[in-house]
Amino acid sequence: MMHQFVAVLLLALALFPVAVNSFTKTDFPPHFLFGASTSAYQVEGAADQDGRKPSIWDTFALAGNGGAYQGNGDIACDQYHKYKDDVELMAKMGLDAYRFSISWSRLIPDGKGPINPKGLEYYNNLINELTSQGIQPHVTLNHWDLPQALEDEYEGWVSRRVIKDFTAYADVCFREFGDRVKHWTTVNEGNMYSMIGYDLGLVQPQRCSPDSIFNCSKGNSSTEPYLVTHHMLLAHASAANLYRNKYKVKQQGFIGFNILVHGYLPLTNTSEDVIATKRAQDFFIGWYLNPFFFGEYPAVMKKNVGSRLPIFTNRESNLVKGSIDFLGVNFYYAFHVKNNPGSLQIKNRDYLADMAVERIYIPENITLQEEIPITPWILERMLHSLKNDYGNFPIYIHENGQLLTRNTLDDQPRVEYIREYIGSLLEMMRNGLDIRGYFVWSFLDVFELQSGYEASFGLYYIDFEDPTLRRQPKLSALWYSNFLNNKTMDINSKITMNIEENSSVLSNTPLLHIAT
Ligand SMILES: *[C@@H]1O[C@H](CO)[C@@H](O)[C@H](O)[C@H]1NC(C)=O
Ligand SMILES: *[C@@H]1O[C@H](CO)[C@@H](O)[C@H](O)[C@H]1NC(C)=O
Ligand SMILES: *[C@@H]1O[C@H](CO)[C@@H](O)[C@H](O)[C@H]1NC(C)=O
Ligand SMILES: *[C@@H]1O[C@H](CO)[C@@H](O)[C@H](O)[C@H]1NC(C)=O
Ligand SMILES: *[C@@H]1O[C@H](CO)[C@@H](O)[C@H](O)[C@H]1NC(C)=O
Ligand SMILES: *[C@@H]1O[C@H](CO)[C@@H](O)[C@H](O)[C@H]1NC(C)=O
Repeated sequence: MMHQFVAVLLLALALFPVAVNSFTKTDFPPHFLFGASTSAYQVEGAADQDGRKPSIWDTFALAGNGGAYQGNGDIACDQYHKYKDDVELMAKMGLDAYRFSISWSRLIPDGKGPINPKGLEYYNNLINELTSQGIQPHVTLNHWDLPQALEDEYEGWVSRRVIKDFTAYADVCFREFGDRVKHWTTVNEGNMYSMIGYDLGLVQPQRCSPDSIFNCSKGNSSTEPYLVTHHMLLAHASAANLYRNKYKVKQQGFIGFNILVHGYLPLTNTSEDVIATKRAQDFFIGWYLNPFFFGEYPAVMKKNVGSRLPIFTNRESNLVKGSIDFLGVNFYYAFHVKNNPGSLQIKNRDYLADMAVERIYIPENITLQEEIPITPWILERMLHSLKNDYGNFPIYIHENGQLLTRNTLDDQPRVEYIREYIGSLLEMMRNGLDIRGYFVWSFLDVFELQSGYEASFGLYYIDFEDPTLRRQPKLSALWYSNFLNNKTMDINSKITMNIEENSSVLSNTPLLHIAT
């Protein structure tokens, strides 16, 4: 498998030479942030401890994930108990920022109502530990883990009632943590949450129409993805409005929203495929950014979805418009887009049929369970396209990383992936994009959404058979640490590592030798 991707990489490099061949951290603007990401259910563990109640992710994982993989987040990386050690590793690595999420059902176990004092204490401890080490907390409020109580009561994001409860939850977070947290992201990957949770029914809360290939017991793929996104937009806007009115002057923070940005390139240069590519972008990205920048959904969505697309009142439209201070972008994969008008003939169309495109992975035969091709030039193209459509707004790359089998300590392909993207960021900024930070997904080997504990993105390896869950740096952790400590990173250099030196990051002994 690997050779195929090396070949693809070399081809990509040959066709699209990276302008920046050698770089150091000081080539980046002084306030540019380098970090790493995780999310609550994927790292915390202690799922039923100290008053936490289940989220929709607990329910999904404990039910067996639709058979796709085994495992759950009951223990995960146990960051709930090991946060001090983890923050120490972050500090030694040299991270500027840590992106994590708050478990809503740990802080407010029933989704609304009383605050759990132990939950409050945990996040205060984590945030204090970070800030005492000079690491900025970048906090996501909802990362695929709505409290199960709200799912049971009113079907969660499908209902408008979520807007009020989300705003009250955000209010607690701003009030309790906002003196130290300056970067808030309301929702992670809103577009994928809606699509794979409510159209495909592949992940929590596993809702889809009865005729979907996944056997959902509830849902409606024709309507719910649109309702869910509508409510996410309104919940975001409501929380942002609250922040601006009640906290902003005092706390001076920023509110953003996060989406997954796929790379989209037309399969051919025919006008059909070029227009289809624009349509795919409108469905995946414009679905959120048009409301954020213009207060309404893209015209092509209104046309194709018709009366199933919710409508913003004037008041709502004005509230949503201008409600993000920054966009969080997660980027991994790219697709070729082919026009597929036939899908508009289907009765009871779902979200994907409304889009009327066929998406073909680049390269065509990749599966989601193997190494991801390295395509920073496609990310750059996507970001220029957003700048062109919406203006030059601040962007944080919130997630980017390489999937490998978990026990690969010598994760050279991950090093190549991260190095190519970081090197390319310099070029992107020189070309005028307003990128403020870059977070590797993921800091540790976490409980992955689609691969459980089988494959992972972590900079640190965790042997889940080891009762102490010891963290071991992979080559990528050592590479990143070298970079963060201003070692020159030559794009053509071969990185050598003696795995026996794997404690260098942990113990702060001299950093690795980079052979050129
Ligand atoms: C989904 O909702 C629409 C609009 O209410 C309805 O026409 C359709 O029959 C529903 N589909 C399913 C599978 O329930
Ligand atoms: C859905 O249920 C059918 C019938 O029980 C079964 O054959 C099929 O494998 C199930 N599909 C999934 C994705 O679980
Ligand atoms: C489409 O046109 C562009 C610009 O002329 C070219 O770079 C690209 O290779 C063409 N793509 C295809 C699939 O023909
Ligand atoms: C994927 O495509 C490449 C190039 O066409 C080919 O060399 C490789 O064998 C294919 N891999 C699989 C798993 O089909
Ligand atoms: C980082 O390295 C570059 C290149 O070697 C050097 O010019 C710069 O002064 C270094 N910065 C710091 C803070 O050490
Ligand atoms: C590095 O990791 C290996 C493999 O787990 C372990 O046996 C070894 O003790 C570690 N080396 C150091 C210096 O900690």
